Amino acid sequence: MDRVSLITRTITPLFLSLAGFLLSLAAFANDSHRTGKSTEANTASQLERDRIVQNAAQMVTQGREIFRFDSFGDEQFWSDALQLHKAIEGERFGGIGNGLTPQQALDLGLKVDVEALPGSVVQQLEQGAVDLSDVAVTLALIKQDAVLGVKGTFNSDGSLKSVGLTCALCHSTVNDSLAPGVGERLDGWANHDLNVGAIIALAPNLQPIVDLLRIVHPDITDSQVRDVLQSWGPGKFDAQLLLDGKAFTPEGKPAATLIPDAFGLAGYNQHAWTGDWGTVTYWNAFVAVLELRGVGTFFDPRLDDADKFPIAAAKEFGHISVDPKEDQVTPKLPALHFFQLALPAPKPKAGVDFDAGAAERGSELFGGKAKCGSCHVEPLWTEPGWNLHTPDEMRIDGFQANRAPGDAYKTMNLAGIFVRERGLFMRPENKGRFYHDGRFKTLLDVVDSYDARFNLGLSNQEKRDLVEYLKSL
Ligand code: HEC
Ligand code: HEC
Repeated sequence: MDRVSLITRTITPLFLSLAGFLLSLAAFANDSHRTGKSTEANTASQLERDRIVQNAAQMVTQGREIFRFDSFGDEQFWSDALQLHKAIEGERFGGIGNGLTPQQALDLGLKVDVEALPGSVVQQLEQGAVDLSDVAVTLALIKQDAVLGVKGTFNSDGSLKSVGLTCALCHSTVNDSLAPGVGERLDGWANHDLNVGAIIALAPNLQPIVDLLRIVHPDITDSQVRDVLQSWGPGKFDAQLLLDGKAFTPEGKPAATLIPDAFGLAGYNQHAWTGDWGTVTYWNAFVAVLELRGVGTFFDPRLDDADKFPIAAAKEFGHISVDPKEDQVTPKLPALHFFQLALPAPKPKAGVDFDAGAAERGSELFGGKAKCGSCHVEPLWTEPGWNLHTPDEMRIDGFQANRAPGDAYKTMNLAGIFVRERGLFMRPENKGRFYHDGRFKTLLDVVDSYDARFNLGLSNQEKRDLVEYLKSL
């Protein structure tokens, strides 16, 4: 063998294998480029992904603080105008009247967060050694941020400078782990015991509310306004009263609606009970500025409709504008929105909360014979897209629908509805209550009514199966 052929013979396979290696490397690189698997690309995209996850976590954490503790500067209304703080602290602390004892606060449906309390206080509560008739205890609880939704600011002498209200007041409750009304927070669970009207009626000065209602009812008095507030009862609030001045239905029933849960809200368009008001973030801005009366900008020219919203139109509630430097609402809307959408609906347990066999039969009926699934679309339980229906379509009266833009009812999401049917963490007398005004006491009443309204021809067994299915959502 000559030298050339020796070299060729040795080098050729080497060369071939080297070329093969280079080719496969190129192919790998090419492939990696497409799938983003090269080391460099990998790190970059992972970082990018993490940045998004980190942002989401941060937004949700911030949003939770806002939802629980932020009063958006609404002390300007509840304290500066209505003087609610004076009624809470009573004469003994420089306020007005007897003050609010812890027992009275619990009776009004206010809830106490056990995790906000120092261990020594928890121990005393367990031993029944806390004086529930002492207003000083109420003030101490507020100071610990332990009364859900009530934000206090204190003077150096321990008296209240002001109180503000937060979203948690109505849209959260506690799990009663220590005593009825005292437990761990349940963010997003509507407080069905909360007597909002009676709490507002504690305020020494209701003149700002009287003045607004006089736009529609020129002769209304302070005591009539207090009667309206007292008419709502536990678990209800009237979010439209100070827009349209309608306190009662044509049949003379209170116009307030049930406080809805704030969980299970992600993935669909219109929110609240009625109309095309808007999405979750619309409601967040609307409530913070027009209901809680925080300091923020709010825009909705539909409120200029003087037939539908005589008070709002007269007072230009659809054009509230504050200096961006003063705005205590708008900068918080993104995080608050994230948090609201992140709240999961509680999950019922088979055998505890519902009967699995019956629920399975009910599931067939829901999508079939009973036609529920045509509006309550699984698994959102409302329509993807336009989730509203006219009162005629629902075959119910239009009173509440017609108080909203769009004159419609929203298909209510049904996730976690077993909580209300079972009456979890609420007083027995407040359990159940379905539809916007709570007209149906039980889920069976709801199903009976659909059966009658839509001639579904359901047997008693089928109705019971459907109820078990509803409790399984
Ligand atoms: C005084 C009680 C009360 C407080 C406080 C309150 N809400 Fe509400 N909220 C209600 C009621 C009642 C409704 C239903 C209104 C309607 O449909 O007309 C509602 C509806 C909503 C909805 C729509 C829920 C759904 O099922 O589609 C959202 C979102 C919401 N509120 C967010 C908030 C936020 C955010 C705050 C704090 C800024 C807040 N709420 C404070 C009583 C309250
Ligand atoms: C045409 C659309 C439509 C159909 C069909 C329909 N629903 Fe509803 N559902 C609604 C709307 C709208 C509401 C809210 C009513 C209100 O605001 O008072 C609602 C509310 C409910 C509620 C009360 C929710 C709450 O939070 O109080 C339950 C329970 C319910 N529906 C179950 C059913 C069942 C069971 C069926 C089948 C038998 C059914 N729905 C069929 C549109 C529909």
